[in-house]
Parts: sequence; structure tokens; C-alpha cells
Amino acid sequence: MKGIILAGGLGTRLLPLTKVTNKHLLPIYDRPMIYYPIQKMVDAGITEIILVVGDKSAGEFIRLLGNGNHLGLNHIYYIFQDGEGGIAQALGLCEYLVKNEKFMVILGDNIFQDDLTSFLRQFNQQKSGARIFLKEVDEPQRFGVPRIEDNEIITILEKPPKPPSNYAVTGIYMYPPDVFEIISQLQPSSRGELEITDVNNAYAQRGELKFNFLKGWWTDAGTFNSYRHAWALVLGDEHIK
Ligand code: G1P
Repeated sequence: MKGIILAGGLGTRLLPLTKVTNKHLLPIYDRPMIYYPIQKMVDAGITEIILVVGDKSAGEFIRLLGNGNHLGLNHIYYIFQDGEGGIAQALGLCEYLVKNEKFMVILGDNIFQDDLTSFLRQFNQQKSGARIFLKEVDEPQRFGVPRIEDNEIITILEKPPKPPSNYAVTGIYMYPPDVFEIISQLQPSSRGELEITDVNNAYAQRGELKFNFLKGWWTDAGTFNSYRHAWALVLGDEHIK
């Protein structure tokens, strides 16, 4: 199975740190941010990854990661995303590499503790549909938020002013190849992007959106508060130190 890591974006919420570099190249303790999602892929047995980069510092990723062997990877495919088309558009660009296989996605600024191996096993056993991961957070209005009824996700609201639960949809996703059909039918949202939440809602409508709760800590790192939080969580983690 291949993994996709998304490392595009302008990182505007972290200016001026991101004025001359990409958010995912910024340090968290002793390594660049992008090392953390890569490590999670390798720990789950995924050694072929597709890295989607954007305009910002595209060449620096190749300089840093090369073929990925030193990080336990067998191969890295680099894909270039032109402009700010959104997470779902970035996935769409990977279709020709993923072909007819299931795959896992991690957003490059998601830093977390759980090992994904057992979740991946559950995903491989499910007959159809996608699998996402939830974590209870203090400020759900910053994230995609699920409405859960009878242990099923009915729908997900993207950054809702009045969140229907205290759970964030984390940036860890598992999809079957029919996701590309869904992506090809998406319309851009009000911010002009193809939204991953619309993809997940298509599965929710079919009753095909499975989920797990993460047990360990999780954060994204796209704002100064969450970036600082990511440092604190990593520094407190005995496995990483
Ligand atoms: C994106 C997704 C959101 C998800 C979040 C997790 O938000 O749109 O649903 O909860 O990642 O990190 P963004 O960070 O692009 O604002």
C-alpha cells in the first residue's frame, strides 16, 4: 500500500516563519515537521510514499528527503500541486500512481502519538468505504466536526461556528480507489478549494464512513498556538526524546 503526505500550502498563519520556507520544513524539536508523518507511515509498514508539494520550497523537499531510504522508505514520488486547490485536489493528482489500490493519507502538519498499524488492518478488512480518525479537542470550530448518531457519522461540518460535537476530524484518512470518482465530481467550496470534508460526506451519505478515536495525543501545527502545542507534546513524549 502507498501513503500520501500533503505538504503544500502557503502557511500564512505562521508568517513570518514561513516567509522563506515551507511550514512542513520548520523544526519540531530535533527534526523537520515532515519527518513525523513519514515516521508514522513507516511504523505502519508503508514504505512507498507520494509527497505532494506546492510552489513554496518545492525543491527543498528533494534536498531534505531524497529517496527517503535514510528514513526507512523504499521510494518517494514527488507530485507538484499548482496553486491552492485544496486537499481533495491534491489527492486527485495522485490517482495515476495509486491506481486501483487502497491508500492512507496524512496531512503533513498533523503530529500525533498513535501507531496506525491496527487501524490500517481494520481498514484493509472493511469491504467498502473510507475510514477517518477523531480526537476530542478544546476548539472544535477550527476543524472538520462530525455529527455522530448511534455510533455512526451522519455528516461532517467544516469549521462550524456551532460544532455538533467536541471531536475534530484529524488529518489522517484511509480511502479505497473509488475516492477518485468522488473527487472528480466535487465543486469548489466558498474558499475556492476542493474540500476533503465533501469527500468524507459522500461516504457518510452512503453509510460507508468508518471511524476510530485516536487514543494518544494529537495536534495540527498550522497556527502559532498549535505549533507551540506540537513542540510541547513532542518534548513530553519519551518515545521521541
Ligand atoms: C483541514 C481539514 C479539516 C481537518 C484539519 C485537520 O483543515 O479541512 O477538516 O479537521 O485539516 O488538521 P485546515 O488545516 O486545512 O484548515
